[in-house]
Amino acid sequence: MDSTSASVSAVARIAFLTSDVVVDSLPTPPVVSPYSQKYNILSRTSTHKPRVISTPFGADPGSTLIRNTSNLTSFTASTSPQVLTRLVLHLSEIAVLPIVLHLAVWDDLSDVLLLRSAVPFFLLSTTAQQAHDNALLAARLARTERKAVVHAFYTASPTEDLDEIPEEKILPFLLSATHPKSPRTTNGHATPLPTNDLNGHANGHSSHPHSLASSTEDQGSINLFKAYEAAALDTLSLLRRPLRPFTSRGSPEPHTVIFTLGKENLLTDIEGILFVSITLANPLPHSRLLHNVPSSATRIIVLEQAYRWHSQWTPLYIEVVSALQERSSEQDIVIQSGILGDTSNVQEPDILNLILKSTTLPSSRLLLGVVPAQDSASNALPHIPKHEAAYTKILAHLFNERLEISNSPYLVATQGEIATTPEYALGRVRGQLDSRADLINTIQELLHDGDINDDLHSLLAKWIIDKDDVVKSRTLGKAIVDTLESEPVEHPASNKILALREFLPSRSRWIIGSDAWSYDLGSSGLHHAIASGLNINILILDTLPYSSRNNGDPHRRKHDVGLYAMNHGDVFVASVAVFSSYSQVLQSLTEADRFDGPSVVLAYLPYQSEDASALDILKETKLAVDSGYWPLYRWDPSKEKVGREPFSLDSDAVKNDLKQFLDRQNHLSQLVTSRPQMAAELVSSLGETVKEARKKRAQESYATLLTSLDAPPLLILYASDGGAAEKKAKRLENRAKARGLSTTIANLDSYTLETLQEEEHVVFITSTAGQGEPPQNGRTFFKALNAAALRGDEVLKKLRYSVFAMGDSHYWPRPEDAHYYNKPGKDLDSRLAKLGAERFVDIGLGDDQDADGSETGYKLWEPLLWKALGVDSVEVTEAEPEPITNEHIKAASGFLRGTIAEGLEDFSTGALAPSDGQLTKFHGIYQQDDRDIREEREAQGVEPAYSFMIRVRMPGGVCKPDQWLQMDQISDEHGSGTFKITTRQTFQFHGVIKRHLKPAIQDINRVLLDTLAACGDVNRCL
Ligand SMILES: Cc1cc2nc3c(=O)[nH]c(=O)nc-3n(C[C@H](O)[C@H](O)[C@H](O)COP(=O)(O)O)c2cc1C
Repeated sequence: MDSTSASVSAVARIAFLTSDVVVDSLPTPPVVSPYSQKYNILSRTSTHKPRVISTPFGADPGSTLIRNTSNLTSFTASTSPQVLTRLVLHLSEIAVLPIVLHLAVWDDLSDVLLLRSAVPFFLLSTTAQQAHDNALLAARLARTERKAVVHAFYTASPTEDLDEIPEEKILPFLLSATHPKSPRTTNGHATPLPTNDLNGHANGHSSHPHSLASSTEDQGSINLFKAYEAAALDTLSLLRRPLRPFTSRGSPEPHTVIFTLGKENLLTDIEGILFVSITLANPLPHSRLLHNVPSSATRIIVLEQAYRWHSQWTPLYIEVVSALQERSSEQDIVIQSGILGDTSNVQEPDILNLILKSTTLPSSRLLLGVVPAQDSASNALPHIPKHEAAYTKILAHLFNERLEISNSPYLVATQGEIATTPEYALGRVRGQLDSRADLINTIQELLHDGDINDDLHSLLAKWIIDKDDVVKSRTLGKAIVDTLESEPVEHPASNKILALREFLPSRSRWIIGSDAWSYDLGSSGLHHAIASGLNINILILDTLPYSSRNNGDPHRRKHDVGLYAMNHGDVFVASVAVFSSYSQVLQSLTEADRFDGPSVVLAYLPYQSEDASALDILKETKLAVDSGYWPLYRWDPSKEKVGREPFSLDSDAVKNDLKQFLDRQNHLSQLVTSRPQMAAELVSSLGETVKEARKKRAQESYATLLTSLDAPPLLILYASDGGAAEKKAKRLENRAKARGLSTTIANLDSYTLETLQEEEHVVFITSTAGQGEPPQNGRTFFKALNAAALRGDEVLKKLRYSVFAMGDSHYWPRPEDAHYYNKPGKDLDSRLAKLGAERFVDIGLGDDQDADGSETGYKLWEPLLWKALGVDSVEVTEAEPEPITNEHIKAASGFLRGTIAEGLEDFSTGALAPSDGQLTKFHGIYQQDDRDIREEREAQGVEPAYSFMIRVRMPGGVCKPDQWLQMDQISDEHGSGTFKITTRQTFQFHGVIKRHLKPAIQDINRVLLDTLAACGDVNRCL
């Protein structure tokens, strides 16, 4: 496509100025979208500012369109078969949305005509002026009818004259009421517009009084046609230029009518011939079509610019034939189809010749003009971006004549465009590997059965041993061929070896592709190559600059091919950047070649246009590598088999981050050893833990680094008293990570409204405590939220959120208490909206009373979340770890011991280890901290004031006097001086600090009471 085409520029301008959302489908890199260039200029100069989303080449634009519907959404692309075939899948959904699909056509309508019958409206423009006018008409039509319009337009020369409507008139035109004289404003029985007579001075009144709709005609198609006429009339009143579905020129009483669909400049004053060019290719009500065929006509020729139409009948031809069948006329009309070629040199004799041919050879397919050579259109060598040489030269240098690029662009000339796809390359490699296996068998056969001399025997045997050795396989192979040719052997295997000689040397087979393949791993064929197990190398060039990675559709995620391939287990994976570390590229490519199995090398080469300077690429590379966006690493699973670490991290910057982290951990362990009062046991176990933690953390931080490449980040905040909401939140975290989302989890109170302002996607899971109150670890947040909501601050405008609330609809069974059900979750949901946040999934409600408890509601809510975040189609292959239940914790605790004893002896903190928190509950003990002085202590840099609540177990609620007295004494000696008698028929002590825990429990035991199973268990046995 000509990047400065006048029609592209005009269409881009109208698309931008009429739409709320513009989706631009990018061409194959490094070609830059001419639409985007125009959008960039318009976004600076125009007052109307739609949202512009780019979809990368190879990605499916249909789902982006469906997700981003608005009052009017425009889609701009050139008609590449890849884009169109993907759109077709979504057309049934797109057809009923207000979307205009502007598709630039070069010289052939074959691809774009595939969409014709699947959309309500299909307009065709052949000049820049027409493209401008029809773009406006299409916008009006899509907006008023709320249906999709395809606008196919030919790219025109940049110098074509163009009268463009000023920006300030566009929106008023779009929003104005329908033209009072338009047919649609009448009662539905409008007189059809006399389309041929409609000119600049037309007033909308018909000069053809009779209605032409036949009784059998599809009313739907007529209604759509009328809607077109209405929009055309509205547009006419703005432009003062007529917009016609058909344009007739030539003889008023013709013997031949020539319909044309496509670009032409035919002479019109030929005796007896009427030319009808078609602008509206759908809807085409038959009555309207036939209106163009005067009664004098005996022959119709339908010429369409569809050079590569594969079925016998072309679309317009079929329409005309079926229209004629409905005609009641006595007269027989001959109808023929043909190709409309390039008519620039067509003269009157050519047209007369066409008619002559149509009479002498009635069954042949006609041709008017010249069909452009197919080579120039589709089989030309694809453009190889010059920057790619940075990698391909290294490959050539490293592997010399061993290098075989299985999808080399040079194959396109002989094999067609398919030759560059991974499926094709994979098929080729598979064939080549099969042939080599055949060669090996044949040589073995000759070794066993053949009557051969010692020299040849030795050569063949050596080759079998060294067949994978780069040098030896070549020299031995050459010697074998020489020997077999000079001293022929009487054995069929001998000829077969000579026929398969090209497979004697070992080769390095590479498939080279772009990162567009990674948007759709399955259908791009990349998945098959990775999963094939074949000894094949794949080099994927990623050209997306770090600084422009956020311009795309956030929902369209580029899959992390590296992570995906690593998951396969038997695939070598490397991530390299030639402008960051040349030696790492060499090392990775060599290791990939050596690896016996599939290898994937992800190569970074960020540039936006081919004239990007090396310095720009260098800067972008540095930015991406240093920030961890593009980490350099190698993963070689074969190392694992020999007991070595399979993963090598090669980026210095990321390494430094890791080192800092590990240093901090070191520092911690030093601190621990400097405290002699700590139990030796604790220290040594901590030492082990630090090692474990280091390893785990290193893995985790690296996994996070990888998964977060393109995924939208997700923050999960929970508030939970009993742990149910917390457990769900943690499970959600795992699931989100498995879907590639970079996920963080925290309790609600660890965030403030200010820190939340920086977040994009936040999911809240909160249970209900007390009487419709928020759980303890969410109360501070709730207070701040309520205060801000009262003030009406819109402080969370950037935030997108969803809430899952957990409660029990019968906890407070009286009807007047119904509002306590899930109150905190509901309050949170409405208040966040009040603060300006956008709810991306409606609130989910979990009710303990449901069949599966809160899971019933949860199962409905979670899938909506994945859908909204665009990860619903991500296959989660890893089995989710089984949720850890209380029973698991108990079984693993050494009969409820855990490390409670060690923790009690650690006087450096008033708390117990977090891992013991749940265990102590089984002992009837909750750890708490004094909220009133929490902030003050935090400001002083000391830990919260921890204390414990102890709940006694008292069977049957029967308390003897000596027990009562003991309780009283315990509260004075070990607690806050008070104790509670609760509805659980027992006593509760508060404010017991860690040092007093043990004596308090001992005193309780002394009066033959205990605390076991008083908290945390389902059945608390009280
Ligand atoms: C003391 C207490 C009070 C509760 N009050 C309510 C309530 O007012 N409304 C409600 O819908 N659920 C109420 N529930 C039910 C809990 O919210 C529900 O069981 C939830 O799943 C507990 O989650 P958690 O373990 O994360 O705290 C209450 C539960 C408890 C233990």
